[in-house]
Amino acid sequence: MKVLITGVGGFIGSNLAAAHLSQGHQVIGIDNFSTGNHENLKELQGLTLIEGGVIESLGQVSEDVNIAYHFASPASPEKYMALAMNTMEVNTGGTLSLLQFSKRTGARFVFASTSEIYGDPLVSPQTEDYWGNVNPIGPRSVYDEAKRFGETLVAHFQREENVNAGIFRIFNTYGPNMDPFDGRVVSTFIRQALKGEPFTVFGDGSQTRSFCYIDDLVRGIMAMGQSNHPGPINLGNPRENTLLELAKMVTDIVGGSGEIKFLDLPQDDPKKRNPDISKARSILGWEPTVSLEEGIQKTATWMAKNLSA
Ligand SMILES: NC(=O)c1ccc[n+]([C@@H]2O[C@H](COP(=O)([O-])OP(=O)(O)OC[C@H]3O[C@@H](n4cnc5c(N)ncnc54)[C@H](O)[C@@H]3O)[C@@H](O)[C@H]2O)c1
Repeated sequence: MKVLITGVGGFIGSNLAAAHLSQGHQVIGIDNFSTGNHENLKELQGLTLIEGGVIESLGQVSEDVNIAYHFASPASPEKYMALAMNTMEVNTGGTLSLLQFSKRTGARFVFASTSEIYGDPLVSPQTEDYWGNVNPIGPRSVYDEAKRFGETLVAHFQREENVNAGIFRIFNTYGPNMDPFDGRVVSTFIRQALKGEPFTVFGDGSQTRSFCYIDDLVRGIMAMGQSNHPGPINLGNPRENTLLELAKMVTDIVGGSGEIKFLDLPQDDPKKRNPDISKARSILGWEPTVSLEEGIQKTATWMAKNLSA
């Protein structure tokens, strides 16, 4: 099979490319390295890399691609707010360009949406038929609303243009190749523990998140790519923890002082995030298998090597 992965230099894109290459598939990747890292690609033998923006680079992609995975987009709040125009463009115009590519070539198109489309949810756990609670003009809306409109485009091309496209919604994922400095909580806590620095917790730390290890997520993404299901399908780990519980777990596994510095809660920060994964279980036969403890250990081992390098 030949697959296209946009955002291949990022955390998820590089892990997805590695999994495809290890199974003998051909991989073409596009990345402008706005948040990605060439280091993530250094062991990927056989990858065809096109360096540039998604919209500008698509013309260089051969038309015999079987699956196009759209992962290009900043993903951490810090980065997507700093790169707001790029975030809005790549999730709307970029998604449109890829849908037109899929219509022309017949490639299956898979859109990486996010739990952020549920906003600060009023129901928990979140099922795919929940429409969300999003502030359309808040600082996070550059990401949330761009992803929501990306989903709208996909649904339109499914309905009106007969494109074989699928949407899945990723909940917090962590693991090797994540930027330790982009503000996401698991990598931040592990980095702080390794450096003996206090954990920075926004709010009182009682907000919950669910954390999925990257290897589990990649299995789910590949299952979605190889199915013809339109989605949306949630992919994430339904185990829910408060940030204070996560901090304690990281201290127990990685070490560090365990000290916590509380900071103001950012605007529109969700209080709860927990996926209902019944659809992923029944349609894709998928569920996560890596425990949070094991995932923290593996990520810390990678990060310790990486930070010292
Ligand atoms: N990691 C998560 O927990 C999570 C959760 C929900 C959704 N997602 C989605 O998964 C995708 C990947 O997330 P990630 O965590 O790997 O983020 P990341 O920032 O590590 O990777 C994103 C990649 O996209 C590239 N990129 C950004 N804009 C581009 C453009 N215009 N043209 C070409 N390349 C561009 C970046 O350089 C980077 O390599 C994103 O679409 C994100 O919204 C991730």
